Amino acid sequence: TDLYAVVGNPIGHSKSPRIHLEFAAETKQDLFYKAILVPLDGFDTEAKRFFKHGGLGMNITVPFKEDAYRFADEYTPRAQRAQAVNTLKRLDDGRLLADNTDGAGLVRDITVNNNIALKDKRILLLGAGGAVRGVLQPLLAEQPNCIVIANRTVNKAEQLAEDFADLGKVSGLGFADVDEPFDVIINATSASLSGELPPLNPSIISPETVCYDMMYGNSATVFNQWATEQGAKLTIDGLGMLVEQAAEAFFLWRGVRPSTAHLMKTLRDERR
Ligand code: ATR
Repeated sequence: TDLYAVVGNPIGHSKSPRIHLEFAAETKQDLFYKAILVPLDGFDTEAKRFFKHGGLGMNITVPFKEDAYRFADEYTPRAQRAQAVNTLKRLDDGRLLADNTDGAGLVRDITVNNNIALKDKRILLLGAGGAVRGVLQPLLAEQPNCIVIANRTVNKAEQLAEDFADLGKVSGLGFADVDEPFDVIINATSASLSGELPPLNPSIISPETVCYDMMYGNSATVFNQWATEQGAKLTIDGLGMLVEQAAEAFFLWRGVRPSTAHLMKTLRDERR
């Protein structure tokens, strides 16, 4: 049986084993997928051990995505741009190919599952950490009108905008500098994790604004609650992105694309 795993810290609540095992059942792939808790300084040790013992692919979650980037031998262009890696695949010659499927998962959830085109839209990204870096190239590939990155630490937003300027119209600002309405607003700050909300100007939301929180939980995220209160047209949480980034990794590993709609519905129903 082919072996796959997700590594992270913490890892206990990861839905990845469940998702990938359901994909495997659906596509009739003979594989096993487990979660591995790795000590904070232990990524390289675990990755060496895992691939030495025949592991074929690994998903990487917080806080090891930059470690995985360093550890890999070859990169997809989007992983190279992201400088963070959520998927490793062992190639036939034993070398490790690194990919980042987060952005593709986000874009697919927005454009396919929610049927929202990003072409020519004005997009606001909240945050300027690894989560934003990971999705910028796939978002820009949709040819939006512009992407504005707003962050608490303004120079991080400016730097990111500079790093991706060759791919489209991107700028970096502070939260206070953003007060025009946007078509799509994507929250990628880790503020949500602690139930906090960045100091956002309500005027960024119009009745046409779609809000997307990369986080998800058993109830609406603080950002999505706020967006609803401001009259946003639609709020979406990150469960769809989670399932789609997994499907994209599964495709890289196995060459077959699992269907996601049924699983997503099951996961949503279980939260109620
Ligand atoms: P990730 O990999 O999730 O992106 P990260 O690289 O640590 O994690 O980035 C976290 C992001 O959330 C950053 O943009 C951070 O803002 P700073 O760059 O100013 O640190 C943002 N963030 C975290 N807590 C926040 C808060 N309470 N309010 C606003 N932004 C916050």
